[in-house]
Amino acid sequence: MKCRTCREPAIIDLPRHNANFCAEHFLQLCRRQVAKAIHDHQMFTEADRILVAVSGGKDSLAVWDLLVDLGYRADGLYIALGIGEYSDESRGYAERFAAERGLVLNVVSLREDYGYDVPTAAKATGRVPCSACGMSKRHLFDKAAVDGGYDVVVTGHNLDDEASVLFGNALRWDVEYLARQLPVLPARHGFPRKVKPLIRLTEREMAAWCVVRGIDYIIEECPMAAGNRHLGYKEALNSLEEKSPGTKASYYLGFLDRMAPLLADLAVTGADSVRPCARCGAATGVADEHAVDGEIVCAFCRLVERSAAHAPVSVDLVRKKSRAERRATMEVEAR
Ligand code: AMP
Ligand code: FES
Ligand code: ZN
Repeated sequence: MKCRTCREPAIIDLPRHNANFCAEHFLQLCRRQVAKAIHDHQMFTEADRILVAVSGGKDSLAVWDLLVDLGYRADGLYIALGIGEYSDESRGYAERFAAERGLVLNVVSLREDYGYDVPTAAKATGRVPCSACGMSKRHLFDKAAVDGGYDVVVTGHNLDDEASVLFGNALRWDVEYLARQLPVLPARHGFPRKVKPLIRLTEREMAAWCVVRGIDYIIEECPMAAGNRHLGYKEALNSLEEKSPGTKASYYLGFLDRMAPLLADLAVTGADSVRPCARCGAATGVADEHAVDGEIVCAFCRLVERSAAHAPVSVDLVRKKSRAERRATMEVEAR
């Protein structure tokens, strides 16, 4: 197995490129894919202050590493979600990554700063954990970016993530979600721009990036992700990809090129219908706002109020999947 570029021994085969690469040329390919995504979608420039949302997992640490490597100014943001050992460990990976490289990592803790955690919020609201978690993260990404004067928030969503979400939206013909499924969400009143520079790279490629670059990351998946539909969509796409390498990339990147422009009219977000929350002042979209005693209160503040009043709930009480089941899911994903 030889590198396509230099003919030296290869360390990775990439069937979708019909080629093998040595470590150096694999890294070069990843840098070029990220640079192309940033350029094609005008994600940001060297002048922008970038905030990378890091979970301690491979994708978000890899994207932070890639951006710094490409010469961008990027700080990190870690949200401590209070999901037992999983959160403690993932925070350690994010903190060590930052410390070893002299990078700035901002940390927000749901328990310390807001008096609740994800398992408790799930119990208190009767929502699935991922819903309370996702809403908390979105709100706190926005807040940290606005308060810290950042221009743009970066997340580690990769090609597998985006293709599986697209697959789900297309299965339901959820046209409004399809129209908005773009790798750049423009800034609007009180919300920062949000971008996904890893859309041209797969989960496997990001794991390889971390191995080659010596980045330690948390391998374990979130214990509360049980029953997440997207894991099934990823499996389905992976089996298509195995039979026909390149399917995933042409499906998602082809959507961005050829389908998304046709839906552009539907993607317009209600920029004028944003009002400030009476409690926290955050910009609040109409869909998220709710009147409490005649005042507009955002969904996050309502979540905090209900969850902080609830006795703390341990992660084991809420989690559904056993370790063995999770390992089986990860094995499928790793293929
Ligand atoms: P997920 O929804 O867990 O697949 O994560 C998607 C992206 O959200 C990751 O690639 C990170 O950029 C970001 N993210 C997830 N969890 C956290 C966290 N605890 N703190 C900060 N960012 C996170
Ligand atoms: Fe949010 Fe698991 S990371 S519920
Ligand atoms: Zn609020």
